[in-house]
Amino acid sequence: MKVLVTGGAGFIGSHTCVELLENGHEVVVVDNLSNSSEKSLERVKELTGKDFAFYKGDILDDELLNKIFKENDIDCCIHFAGLKAVGESVAKPWEYYNNNISGTLNLVKVMKENGCKNIIFSSSATVYGDPQEIPITENCPKGQCTNPYGWTKSMLEQILMDIYNSDKEWNIILLRYFNPIGAHKSGRIGENPNGIPNNLMPYITQVAVGKLEKLGVFGNDYDTPDGTGVRDYIHVVDLAKGHVKALKKIEENAGLNIYNLGTGQGYSVLDIVKNFEEATGVKIPYVIKERRPGDIATSYCNPDKAYKELGWKAENGIKEMCADSWNWQKNNPKGYEE
Ligand code: NAD
Ligand code: UD1
Repeated sequence: MKVLVTGGAGFIGSHTCVELLENGHEVVVVDNLSNSSEKSLERVKELTGKDFAFYKGDILDDELLNKIFKENDIDCCIHFAGLKAVGESVAKPWEYYNNNISGTLNLVKVMKENGCKNIIFSSSATVYGDPQEIPITENCPKGQCTNPYGWTKSMLEQILMDIYNSDKEWNIILLRYFNPIGAHKSGRIGENPNGIPNNLMPYITQVAVGKLEKLGVFGNDYDTPDGTGVRDYIHVVDLAKGHVKALKKIEENAGLNIYNLGTGQGYSVLDIVKNFEEATGVKIPYVIKERRPGDIATSYCNPDKAYKELGWKAENGIKEMCADSWNWQKNNPKGYEE
C-alpha cells in the first residue's frame, strides 16, 4: 500500500516507516518538524536502503495536504502528527486542541475529498483515565482524562467513530498505545525529546549518559507492590510492527476497530531502574519525590484482542527495551544534533 505517514519524522513514526518499507509498502511523510529532525528520515532511508517523499509542512495546511494527495496515490493514512507533552498541554490548551483536533479534522476532510477513507490513528492508554479494570481490555470504559492532551485523544477517538458511523466506507483503526520505549537495534533512530524529558525512560538514559544528575521517582506510596507507579512498557519496534498488521486489517475493509498495543506486563518505576542497570551495567542514582499530579497507580493492558484479530504480539522484553534505549542514547548523546 502507499501510506501517508503524518508525523513520520517523530519517535514512533520513524520506526514505523522502517517497518512499512521493510514490508514492501511505500511511504510518503508529512511533518512540520516541530518536535523532530529531518535527520531521522535520512536515517530511515539509510537503514532500509529505500527512498521516499518527504513534505515539510503542517497538517493544518489543507493546500499542502491536497498537493500531497494529488501528487501521490495514497491508499491509507497513518496519523501520528500531534503534540504530546502532558504538562505543556495544561499550560497551552488552545495550541493542543488546535493542533491535534483541528489538524485531524483537516486531514480527514482532505482525505475524503481525495477519496481516501482509510486511517490508522495514534491513540493512547490515557483515554482509560484511572482504569476501571486491570489488565485493561478494549471494553474497559473510557475515563476522565487529567489534561488537555489526553482529552484530544479521547475526543479524536469519538470524532473518528462518528465519522465511521456516518459513512461505513471508512476503515478506521484506533491504536491505544501503552508506554513506548526502546529504539531500533541499529541505534540509528530513537526518542529525541526537547529539553528535560517528561517521560521515565528518556530521563533514565539522560542520567546514564551524564546529562542529568539523578532520577526523581514520583511517589513511592501507591497501592502497588513497591509503592511506585506500574506501567506497560512496549518496545517501539514492536509497536511499529503493530501498524503493519493494522494496515493488513485495513486492506480487509474491516470497518472500525480499536486495539490496545502493549505487552500485558506491568513494571514499576523501580523495576525499570533495576532492569536498566542489569541490562546496561550503568548505575542510576535516584531520589523519591512527591507524586506527580494526574498520575495513576497502575496501567497495563490485556493485549489478546490484537493477537486474535491482527496476529500481533510484542516480542521484546524489558531487558531488550532497556538495552536498546541505552544503545540509542549512548551512540547519540545529543540525539540528532551533531
Ligand atoms: P513525536 O513528537 O516524536 O512525533 C510526532 C510528530 O508529529 C513530530 O515529528 C512532530 O514534528 C509532528 N507534528 C506535530 N504536529 C504536527 C502538525 N500540525 N503537522 C505536521 N506534523 C506535526 O511523538 P511520538 O512519540 O512519535 O508520538 C506519535 C503519536 O503517538 C502522537 O500522536 C502521540 O500523541 C501518540 N502517542 C505517543 C505515545 C508516547 O508515549 N510516545 C503514547 C501514546 C500515544
Ligand atoms: C505519560 C502521560 C500520558 C502519555 C504517556 C505517553 C502523564 C501524566 N501521562 O504517561 O498521558 O500518553 O506519557 O507519552 O504525563 N516517572 C518518574 N520519574 C520521572 C518520569 C516518570 O517516577 O522522571 C514515573 C511516573 O510517575 C509513572 C512512570 O514513571 O509512574 C511512567 O511515566 P511516564 O513515562 O511519564 O509515562 P506515563 O505517566 O504512563
